[in-house]
Amino acid sequence: MPSRTSTWPTGWPSFTPADNDLSDIFSKDLKASIIAEYGESVLYDAWVKTCTALAGVTARIQTLGIASIPILSYEEATSPNNEDVRSRMKAAGCFVIRGVIPTEVAAQEFEELQVFIAENKETVTGWPAKSVAIYHLYSSPTQLKLRTHPRQLTLQRSLNSLWRDTSCSPQELEAEYEPILYPDGFRIRAPGQEFLALGPHIDAGSLSRWADDEYRRTYEAILSGKPEDYDPYDMTHRKSANPGMFPSGPSSSVLRAFQGWTALTPCKPGEGGLMVVPDIKTATAYMILRPFFKAPEDGDWRDPEKWEIDGETGWFPGTYRWDSQLLSPASHPHLFLEDTLLSVPEMQPGDTVWWHADMCHAVEPTHNGRLPASVCYIPASPSTPSNLNYIRKHWKDLVAGNPPDDYKYLDGTGSELVLSKQNERKMKGALPLDALSAEGRRGLGEGV
Ligand SMILES: [Fe+2]
Repeated sequence: MPSRTSTWPTGWPSFTPADNDLSDIFSKDLKASIIAEYGESVLYDAWVKTCTALAGVTARIQTLGIASIPILSYEEATSPNNEDVRSRMKAAGCFVIRGVIPTEVAAQEFEELQVFIAENKETVTGWPAKSVAIYHLYSSPTQLKLRTHPRQLTLQRSLNSLWRDTSCSPQELEAEYEPILYPDGFRIRAPGQEFLALGPHIDAGSLSRWADDEYRRTYEAILSGKPEDYDPYDMTHRKSANPGMFPSGPSSSVLRAFQGWTALTPCKPGEGGLMVVPDIKTATAYMILRPFFKAPEDGDWRDPEKWEIDGETGWFPGTYRWDSQLLSPASHPHLFLEDTLLSVPEMQPGDTVWWHADMCHAVEPTHNGRLPASVCYIPASPSTPSNLNYIRKHWKDLVAGNPPDDYKYLDGTGSELVLSKQNERKMKGALPLDALSAEGRRGLGEGV
């Protein structure tokens, strides 16, 4: 059943060539050097092929609507002989997996989480400060229990194994699929609460995708004129890429095979949940190639063959060093975001949704339901060398009560960064770490 973003939210930003910062010599030189490296005709061929393929992808999403997002049971997603299911998951790059945590367990955890917040209200902070929706809490009992739940670990191992890594032996790869449990936050969104801060975007990276050599190598097939050969699930180069080349709040230090959340409350489309563009391969190729082309002056932007190489400007549409990669109908028109950015299906407590690290997604700007909408951010992350470094340090922080390294600053930039002084170990009702399973503690970094 088609599900259209009928009214494009007016609060979501747009990006046009008028936003180009003429003083940004770095971006201008970077773009020119990439064009010189791969060649104008090769990039042009890649662009035309990608836009042509994208027309088929967007037409399919427009026709299928919400049915473009696979919905699977926990058993289907973790079954060892599920090649058909795995290829559906990989093609869409996003999927709902139901019943990962039993419904009543997740619902009970939501109750306990609210009690934990109330009992520690003197010290708990969050954002926005006046009506907190995203809390600066990373290791509350609810988060620790859900993050280390044995079904989460089994599922995450299975999700990590959708990726390949040609630099590893089969034994090393098996070890790499072992999940590390990246500590992230949760949100409780009140009914009616507007939220315009997370329009269409792609996590992490921004300009680093082109500027960091190892990161750019991830997209080598696209830039080399063979977007059809691009494998979004190859972490050979991605695992050593530096998404934080330009330090910023939204960048994560950890490679997430899939970003994800676990629902704590029921949430229907329109009730403040997640929106995704359910395609990964072609949409990524388009995003990577887009900065190298300018629209025809006659206004007929639909025909990719009319676009020309843009070697004169440093404009990377929707790309800012300090932010996620941002997208809009104006900057990325062939994505037809008004039709292809879809709300995920209705979720129940304990259901999960997962989306590829490069997936275009957004948070619904309005919450039209009658109850709070709450989710725990729980991604799937493999045991790559740099992920292991992060989680090793996290275990020490966790024991000491310090926030995870990616969340040690509450606010600010440069010399005005505000360090978090919150100590979750000292909070009332904190869960003793020896109450967690050995497998869960390993995932949190103990002894790795
Ligand atoms: Fe995001």
